[in-house]
Amino acid sequence: MEKESSVQLEKVLSAPLKTLISENDLRMRVAELAEEVKKDLGDGPVVMIAILKGSYVFISDFSKHFGTNVIVDFMQVSSYGSGTESSGKVQLKKDLDINIKGKDVIIVEDIIDSGLTMKYLLGLLGAREPKSLKVVTLLAKPERHVYKIEADYIGFDIPDVFVVGYGLDYAEYFRNLPYIALPQVEL
Ligand code: IMP
Ligand code: MG
Repeated sequence: MEKESSVQLEKVLSAPLKTLISENDLRMRVAELAEEVKKDLGDGPVVMIAILKGSYVFISDFSKHFGTNVIVDFMQVSSYGSGTESSGKVQLKKDLDINIKGKDVIIVEDIIDSGLTMKYLLGLLGAREPKSLKVVTLLAKPERHVYKIEADYIGFDIPDVFVVGYGLDYAEYFRNLPYIALPQVEL
């Protein structure tokens, strides 16, 4: 098993990458998303919550479009092992440092796949009585949604394919790619 997965990893790492969303398209869409959110939230203080690890690139670019009245905090949850299938359970690995009660909060996520992670986060954070709670996701795979979770803001709807880059990983690799890509290999 161990051996088999390291062979698979070698294959994925050496496979050609096909660009699904270019750096330029990401830059333009992230700016548009930030404008939409700013219009809706006004000038009030906003708490942006990055869901680690996948969202670190997205929130970095997204948050730069806002002014000074912003708090960025981080949470980490995991529903995936190192492969491409969800384990079906969500585990909280790192909680927020700040209290969100009475605040305008926006969850910043890399991708909504089955929707399990987002369902869990909305339950957990909603119970803390924020003034408002919105979701912005860079990517969504509508065909894969098991839980009926609709993000308030979606960068791109993509088909049922496994993507990497711009924060998204395969076995922790590829997060640093500046674009969204498809490894040309059977996963
Ligand atoms: P969900 O709980 O099934 O919606 O899965 C959410 C998490 O699965 C995301 O935050 C990602 O970490 C991971 N994930 C889902 N699809 C992909 C993908 O295509 N590439 C990389 N990670 C993915
Ligand atoms: Mg993630």
